Amino acid sequence: MKIVVTRPIPEVGIEMLKQAGHEVLVLPHDRPCTRTELLAATEAAQGVLTMLTDKIDGEFLQQRPGVKAIANYAVGYNNIDIAACQARGVCVSNTPDVLTDATAEVAWTLLMMAARRAGEGERMVRARQWSGWGPMQFQGMCVLGQTIGIIGAGRIGTRVAQMGKGFGMRVIYVHQRESEAMVQLDARRVELPELLKDADFVSIHVPLTANTRHLVGTKELQTMKKTAVLINTARGPVVDEAALVEALKSKIIFAAGLDVYEEEPKIHPGLFALENVVMLPHIGSATVHARNEMSQLAADNLLAMLRGERGKTQIV
Ligand code: DGY
Repeated sequence: MKIVVTRPIPEVGIEMLKQAGHEVLVLPHDRPCTRTELLAATEAAQGVLTMLTDKIDGEFLQQRPGVKAIANYAVGYNNIDIAACQARGVCVSNTPDVLTDATAEVAWTLLMMAARRAGEGERMVRARQWSGWGPMQFQGMCVLGQTIGIIGAGRIGTRVAQMGKGFGMRVIYVHQRESEAMVQLDARRVELPELLKDADFVSIHVPLTANTRHLVGTKELQTMKKTAVLINTARGPVVDEAALVEALKSKIIFAAGLDVYEEEPKIHPGLFALENVVMLPHIGSATVHARNEMSQLAADNLLAMLRGERGKTQIV
């Protein structure tokens, strides 16, 4: 069968696809492929290993009826119209679990950096503007013993909470149901307004859906403490970026740490002017280990789905 990998990924997965005897086409550019490139490449293909930047919608499926299986190289799959896939009997998988620790680490990197104004300090040092230690310099927020609010107690949210326990933090969370793993951490499930009001750190871990788009906007930011820090490693559109710019500018909250943006790779111009935001380039899962595992898992799923079997982490 013909399989298309829409962008170079760690070799291990590509080798697995080739070893299984398939014809494998890896698009060579290290950038998201265009719709035209995707359509051209997937001519006569049965399987596609997609990136989170590839939009797989009804129109694509209609134009490529031969495609039977899509393995997304990400845990998030808001780039794929699941209902359209289901309606056409196209199987879809994602890569959960293998990137949980890596993404939780980035949430914590952002949390620490934003709380302790590390980005701002580093910029000053690099600009050769630092004149030496000062008693009033760079006073940030302490982390140990504070309250962390987790929005979305799935795998990554739970891991971030577990790491918070290591810092002696009190954990509160918002989730559709009580989470056993959170109960083990003595975490309390609350409604969103209560979490926003009580948390010193708010970390977002929900998938992007119609219900979570702009879950955090002006009203929510105004509910947060003036000393609070907002962290987003999930999907950009969960936060209203324009509202966040205003909140950071007028010190409605203390700081934010972002790994994801509303219209990647575009970033709201207002964010660049602000010192109280730490911005990373969507690197949540970017460790050698996690990316290798993602490559392997995506390939494993794709091979299983093309054999007509259930993939390990198949969604539909
Ligand atoms: C994911 O997997 O959804 C991350 O955002 C990218 O690795």
